[in-house]
Order: sequence, then C-alpha cells, then structure tokens
Amino acid sequence: CGIVGCIGRGDDTVNVLIDGLRSLEYRGYDSAGIALGPTLTVLRKAGELDALAEVVDANEPTGTYGIGHTRWSTHGPPNDRNAHPHTDENGRVAVVHNGIIENYAEIKSELEAEGVTFSSDTDTEVVPHLIARELADGVDAETAFHQAVDRLDGSYAIAAIIDSTETIFAARQGSPLVIGVGDNCTYLASDVPAFIEHTRDVIFLEDGQRVRADAEGYTVLDDNREPVEVDIETVSYTAEETGKSGYDHYMLKEIHEQPTALRQCFSGRADALDGTITLEEVGEIPQPDAVQFVACGTSYHAALYGAATLREMGIPAEAYLASEYALSPPPLSLGTLVVGITQSGETADTLAALRDAKSRGVTTLALTNTVNSTAARECDHAVYIRAGPEIGVAATKTFSSQLVGCNLLAEELVEGQLDLRPLIESLRNLPDDVQSILDSSAAEAIVEEYGDSDAYFFIGRGKNVAVALEGALKCKEISYEHAEGFPAGELKHGPLALVTPDTPVFAVVTGDDKRAQKTLGNIKEVQARGAPVIAVTDGESDAAEIADETLEIPETTERAAPVLANVQLQLFSYHLADALGRPIDKPRNLAKSVTVE
Ligand code: G6P
Repeated sequence: CGIVGCIGRGDDTVNVLIDGLRSLEYRGYDSAGIALGPTLTVLRKAGELDALAEVVDANEPTGTYGIGHTRWSTHGPPNDRNAHPHTDENGRVAVVHNGIIENYAEIKSELEAEGVTFSSDTDTEVVPHLIARELADGVDAETAFHQAVDRLDGSYAIAAIIDSTETIFAARQGSPLVIGVGDNCTYLASDVPAFIEHTRDVIFLEDGQRVRADAEGYTVLDDNREPVEVDIETVSYTAEETGKSGYDHYMLKEIHEQPTALRQCFSGRADALDGTITLEEVGEIPQPDAVQFVACGTSYHAALYGAATLREMGIPAEAYLASEYALSPPPLSLGTLVVGITQSGETADTLAALRDAKSRGVTTLALTNTVNSTAARECDHAVYIRAGPEIGVAATKTFSSQLVGCNLLAEELVEGQLDLRPLIESLRNLPDDVQSILDSSAAEAIVEEYGDSDAYFFIGRGKNVAVALEGALKCKEISYEHAEGFPAGELKHGPLALVTPDTPVFAVVTGDDKRAQKTLGNIKEVQARGAPVIAVTDGESDAAEIADETLEIPETTERAAPVLANVQLQLFSYHLADALGRPIDKPRNLAKSVTVE
C-alpha cells in the first residue's frame, strides 16, 4: 500500500494528495481514498485511482491538509468499505495505514466488547477506534495518537488526522515512511515519488519514530515521545526514475524489497514462543490425504518446493504444470487438496486446472498475492503471500514469499509435527539474511568474469531443484541467454553432453546431507569437462572449497536456504541482463499475467 499526507499547501491540498497517490500506484491499486481537515471529510473508492478521482471531481471537497492511501489488500476484499482512510464511529479521526497490525483481532474484540461497531474487514480500523476511545477519556489528540500506536504490534506506517487539530500525526514501525520538507509545508509518504515534484529534501524515518506535522513545520519524536534530531537528505532522482525509487529497474527494486515482503508474509502468523503457525484466513481444513499443486512458470517452481516440503512431512504431494493438469488430469481421491500457486491469481492455465479439480468434487485452495483475484474467489480457501504488487515481468519477491507461504500452509495442514521453533526462527531471520546477501553479493563480479559464456546451467537436489529451475528460468527470461536447470543427478543422463569450458555451472548446495555430498560429486564431474563451477552455498559442505567461485548465503535451516540461494541467482541474472542491455522489466514476448490458455 502507499500512504501520503501534506500540510501547508492550503487549497491545493486535494491535488497534491491525488497526484501523490498517482505516483504511488505501483504500491497498490485496488482501492484509494483521502481524508481532509479541518472539517473532516473522507472520500474513498474501490478500483484504480481514477475511480477516486471521479468521486473527488463530483464532490469538490475542500481542506487545507490531509492524508491519502492507495491499497493493496491484505485483510478483506478490495471494496469501498475496506478502502482507507478508516474512521471512528463519530467521524473525529481518520487513519491510513500500510503494513499489518498483528494483534488487531485481540484489540478488535476488546473494542467490540466495549460496544464499538466496526464497519470494515481491515486490521487498520482498530486504530481510529483506539484513538477515539482515548479522546473520549479526555486526553488530547496527540497523546491519544501515541497511546493508540503504543498498543499496536506488527509492521506499520500510519498517518492520522484528528478532529480539527490542523496537525498530521504519523508513526513508522517496519513499513517505510518518509517526510518531504517543503517551503512552509510538509509532506509525508511511503516513498519519495509521492512528493518529488514539490521537494527533494527528504527525511527517511526510522522504526519507532513518530511525526507531528502542522503549520509550523514538523517534529520527529522517538517512541518515548521525545523530539529527536534528524538529517535532511537531498535525493537526486530524475522524474523517470522516481517510480523505481532510484533503482534502474523495477526488478532490482523488487529484489531489494524482499526483506519487507518476507516480513509481511510472515507477520502475525507464527508464534516463536510456543512454536505454532496459524493462517487465520484459511479457516478449518481437515488434514488432506494428499496434495496436488498446480501452477505455471515461477509459481510452478514454488509448487515443486511446496510438494517436496509436504512429502517430507508424510503427506503424498505432487506439483503439476497447470497447462498439463487441465487437459490430462491425474487421478485423485476426495480427500485430496488441490492448491493453485499463482502470484496474480489470474493465470488462465492455473484457473483451468483449479476448475477441473473443483468439478471433481475436491477442496481447492489458492496461494496468491492478489486478494479477490479470480483464483482467490473461485477456490474454497485462499492464503495470501502479502508481497505487495510486483511490476517487473520476471517474478522475484513473489517467488520468495511463495516459498514462505508454502511453509506456512504446510504447517497449517499437517498437525502433530516436531518442534517448529527452529523453522520459525529461521523464517523470522529471513529478511535479515536476505538483506545481508543484498549488501554483499558477488553476483556482479561473477557476471564480469563469466558474462560472455555460451550457456549457463543450474543444478541442485531436493528443494534446491526448484532453485536450479528458477535460476535458469530467470536467466533466460531476462538475459535471453541459453540457460537450463536440472536435478543434479540428471546431468549424466544427457545434459553433460552440453558441458564445456564455456558453460558455467551454478551448483546450489545447502546443508551437508547426502544430497549435498552427491552434488559435490556432480561438481567434480562438470569440472572434469572443463566447466567452471559457481557454488551457491552456506559453507556447511565443502562446496566452496571445491568450486571455482562462490556465491555465499548465511547458514539457516534446510527449508529457508532455498530462498536465500535463489536471491543470489536473481542478482546474477539481473546483472547479466543489465550488462547485456536487455529491457529487464519487460522482456520480449513475455507477459506478467498470461490470461489465455
Ligand atoms: C507469466 C509470468 C511468470 C509467472 C507466470 C505465472 O508467465 O511471466 O513470471 O511465473 O506467468 O504467473 P502467476 O501469476 O500465476 O504466478
């Protein structure tokens, strides 16, 4: 989601907010809204921003400061009542929010017990009601805002306007929030593009910081409500770069968004203390006899990983290419669960496979990034990966979040497993682990060394087969170079004939089990044919010692390692395609969402 706010622009406020939202549409576009003060006016509408713009034109609202929001649903379908800003019952408070409030269910029941009526399905709505409760107790607006924010767990960027205080209050914890410092006016937004046409002077807020912005300017406070000194930076983006926040391509931006996306996917769904995982939105699903995954492209690779994970947990599970499944459906028992993995929720082949399964009377579930997508609506259940919108045609952050989603789903479906705490810990650490790869990857140097090769091969075993296949797909999609991925054991049954000194082999070797040991043998096999080997490894086996080059990943659990290994391969493909001058965000002949069978 994207949030904006501005104070000090007088009659221009509405235009500044709408233009700001337009530059943030890449963060979400299923509904939008604005709230203006000092006479609190809220306008909101499901659909793309143009739908809100029409409502604004028809209503001609006035206001001298305000906040706005463009939404990417995580709780509740995209409709008018779930669009932000959310308000309290008496229309004194309006709030916009990006992120996830983990303890909203608890707060909601507490407020409902006190007689508060909720008018949306969102987690956000607890915030205006909490603020209103404080106001009713007689505290001032700013204290009410702080007390409410103090109650929230999770990740959020929040902006609120309260009564006619002529102030915008805001808080950041785990979701981005920046201040734009203008001449006699202050802007707030999830990202700089929202106000770059007005100012380039920016304060990037840190977690725990809060803001009070009024006609006098702005004050940044720490979470003890004490004012803090902050640095103003001047950003140098060009207008063309702004949607990409300074990155050259959306793909690179989305690769870098993975820590946030993973945090959002995991947020509020696992309890590290008692080692439990709960996917609230799924409701009751009895443990299935078997699971069949259906998916296409990158999502199919996530399906391979998901099936391998479930099989290890004792559930018969297979991944099918949706285009094959729909026309040659495999047999299934009534206790089978069919899971469609689809980022968009609109891929025609995947929908056809899910419809076929449904017509045979089994339960279906969509693991998707898009609330209210066709897959989410047509399946009996939906689980959301909460990665936020992905613009680059080549899937990156959604794949990582699909792998985490598969883990959450697997633990939800299969009861009585071993101690989940190590897994939860490793999933919780994934954002930091991914960040450390982003900060230190040697992928660009590998491109410099091997970027003019004849072809690129990718091998792995177990769950790392999915990583090898995905590494090759990403490479060919965006670099147009020949790339192939194989289960490492299959090399000797054909692909080895293609291996030469001009075909680097990426070997994904994580952990030090039998699979890793066998893959070390494969590394030697290809080296004997003169191919350079780049090990993508956590250093637990001897892969780094044997290989010619290494792309390192932090040590973690067997389930989390593929996510990390894949990030290294994403970076390799990106830098290769960049060096070759390819149109990375829109590769030829490919579409983000393929809605024909
Ligand atoms: C297209 C995209 C791929 C994507 C596939 C499945 O081919 O180019 O990146 O993996 O569709 O998309 P879905 O939305 O179903 O995950």
